[in-house]
Order: sequence, then C-alpha cells, then structure tokens
Amino acid sequence: MKILVIGSGGREHALVWKLAQSPHATQMWCAPGNAGIAQERLGKNGTAVECVNIGAEDLPKLLAFAQEKRVDFTVVGPDNPLALGIVDLFQKHGLKIWGVNQKASQFEASKVFSQKFMEKYGIPTAAAGTFSDVVAAKKFTATLGGKCVVKADGLALGKGVLICHNQAEAEKAVDEIMVSKAFGAAGANVVIQEFLEGIEVSLHALCDGTTAKIFPTSQDHKRALDNDEGLNTGGMGTYSPSPFLNDTQLAETARRVLEPFMRGCVTEGIDYRGLLYPGVMLTKNGPKILEFNARFGDPETQVYLTRLENDLVELLDASASGTLAKHKLQWSPLASVCVVMASGGYPGNYAKGKVITGLDAANVLPHTKVFHAGTAIKDGQIVTNGGRVLGVTSLGKDLRAAQAVAYAAVECIQFDDAHFRCDIAAKALVV
Ligand code: AMP
Ligand code: GLY
Repeated sequence: MKILVIGSGGREHALVWKLAQSPHATQMWCAPGNAGIAQERLGKNGTAVECVNIGAEDLPKLLAFAQEKRVDFTVVGPDNPLALGIVDLFQKHGLKIWGVNQKASQFEASKVFSQKFMEKYGIPTAAAGTFSDVVAAKKFTATLGGKCVVKADGLALGKGVLICHNQAEAEKAVDEIMVSKAFGAAGANVVIQEFLEGIEVSLHALCDGTTAKIFPTSQDHKRALDNDEGLNTGGMGTYSPSPFLNDTQLAETARRVLEPFMRGCVTEGIDYRGLLYPGVMLTKNGPKILEFNARFGDPETQVYLTRLENDLVELLDASASGTLAKHKLQWSPLASVCVVMASGGYPGNYAKGKVITGLDAANVLPHTKVFHAGTAIKDGQIVTNGGRVLGVTSLGKDLRAAQAVAYAAVECIQFDDAHFRCDIAAKALVV
C-alpha cells in the first residue's frame, strides 16, 4: 500500500513511525514532514520515507501529488486541512483518506457547535451559554460571578480561550474577543463556560461512523514551565496511562460520552470517521467535557503510538471503511512518557537553525524514540526549525521507570537554548 501522511509535527512523526512498521506499507511520503520523518524506513522493504515539499493546507497540490503517485491511502495529522475539507476533496476524486470530513471537523472548528451538540445529546459538560451579542454575553458572565472561561468560536491556533476570575476580567475578555477581535473572525461568537476545577486528562477514541473505540488515558502538560506555571503552549509533555481515571471510571466515562456522541452524529447526519479527542476535566461532580478536538493530540500521539500493539494501517483503514467493530485495540502494559524539548522563548519568539547533537545516543537507550517536531536538515546537520523541537519518548515498566529513561535521553541531547519541563508525569507519581 502506498501511503501519504500530511503534517510536519511530532504527532506526524509518530504516525509515520508506526505506519512504517506495518507490512501493508510498501512506499510512504510525508508532506511536508521534518528531518526525523525523513530518516524513517519501512519495516517491510527498507525503503526510505520521502518528505515532499507541499504545505499541509495546500489542498490542490496535495491532491495532484496523491493522484500522480497513485497513493492508496492518505492519513491527515493536523486540524486545519480537515477543516478545509481535504477528506471531502480526496473522496470526491475516489481517493481513500483517513481523518474527519468537513462536517465532522466542526466539532473542533466551532466551539459553539460543540457546546450546543453536547447540551442537545446530554454529554456531560460545563454549564455554558453561547452568544453573538456582547451585552447578553456579559450578563451571562455575571450569573457565574465572573468565574468563567470565555472561548472564541472558531479555530484560533490553540489560543482564543480566556480564563477569568471575576466580572471585570470576564467583561474585558468578552470585549477582547468580540469587540477588539483579538482572535479575528473566530470571535464573532463565543462560548462562555463556568470555570471548572479539577484534574484535566486527554481522552482519544477512534471512530468509524458508528463504532467508537476508546484509548487508555493520557495527560498533557500545557503550561511552559514546571508546576504548571508560565504561558499556555501546544503541549510540553505527556504520559500514559494516567492514574486519575481507573479502568472502570474510563469505561463509564466512555459510555457517558461516546454513546451519546455517536448517536448524536447519526441523528445529525454527521459521518464521524476519524479520531475524537475530548478534553476532560475530572471534577468532584464527575468528568465534564471542556472541548472536542477532531484529530490526534500532539504530544498525546507520541505516548499512545509507542504503547499501541495493533497494526496502525489496519486500524486507520478500518476507521475509514466502517469496519472498526471487528478490531480490538491492544495496548502494551508498559507506561510511556514524552518530554518535549522546545526552543528557548517558546511559546513566544524563538530563534531557529540551532544545531542539534546527541540524537543517536538518546535513541539507543532502552525503549526510547526521539520524535522530531520542528526540525530541518541544513548543510547535512539536523537543526531546530520550530517552537516544539523534539518529543523524547520512553517506555518503562511503570511511569517512574519510563520517566527516568525519558529524562536520561533528554540529557543526551543538546542545542542552544533548549527548554524542557523537568516535571513531566511527576503529578502521577504522587497519587
Ligand atoms: P480548550 O481549548 O477549550 O480545551 O481550552 C484550553 C484550556 O483552557 C483547557 O485545556 C483547560 O486547561 C482550560 N479550560 C477550558 N475550559 C475550561 C473550563 N470550563 N474550566 C476550567 N478550565 C478550562
Ligand atoms: N495536546 C494538545 C493538543 O493536541 O491540542
């Protein structure tokens, strides 16, 4: 099978690495990919994965490439091409592709859509309102005593969510999003949720239109600095499984979320085939959904795919084909920890082009894989090329063992101004 993967981050490196192990994969490309992806080889025949210089949002060029190379199966990593309708476009041209279609991508692309859907189908979520009118929005924040979260409706590059502690902050947030349009057109409508206290975990489920298969739990670390301080980032590290939701609680949460979700999709005529990634707050009144993403998480993918024992080509094919019910997801009992190494300054301004050394020494540590995110090759050397640079991922017999190896691997790697958190998975160790 000839496979094309779309995207260039750590998530896509993990997808390529896992797909490349499948005996079904005979040739593979990644658009646009990164320096680590370009080093992967197929398990079946040793062929190198080829990076293609086409942006993940350049739909016409991606289509032309897939047609020219007679790609059998395309796998989409990031949310933007999904929201632009890449799945619908490829399918219209008779090409097989994995990821949600444009209608299903609304769950991530519109927070108003998701909130209304959750309320209509009884999915546990925060008390909330959706607004297009500034005055009504401010009135609603007052009913929550100003302790709330104001969210711009549309995609805002992971931003567009403002946490408020009192009414003055809430009114400022509403003005920023709806009046000053700090996040552009995404802020014409807002969702305002009550502020929920608790522990946040990531859930993932693979869906095929009627069946949804839940993954084990994982937890991301969104803030830039240790002890969850500093600015919000795309994610500074993950681990799986999380001790905060045991197997019984996970099964119960899946039942309360996935069953109404899939039923609602069928009722609304949404053919949800792809990945559903609910962000969940574990509150004292039970788990509540904060938001839905319609793609794999980054860096959740790195810890999930190092634990997944199934053939990923077969699973994604089943998700696209509607035959997931026949498959049982198999997970390694080992724990996985991913530590993100970022460029100094991220998520603010940072320099690029710093030479990275020590990757080979890190990769030979037991059960360790260094996934690349923002990297490139320059004059034969691997250099930094983004905010999040590497996802250093290790398996161990438990979280403590996995964490120790992951940090030993991090210590092997050097680049100027490298920044990483020193407490990934630490929360899970004190339970
Ligand atoms: P979202 O993009 O909707 O997941 O929001 C980004 C982050 O804001 C989440 O990962 C949470 O840490 C936080 N957040 C979102 N909604 C709430 C809420 N209702 N209560 C508390 N924190 C929230
Ligand atoms: N791990 C955060 C995200 O993928 O949105």
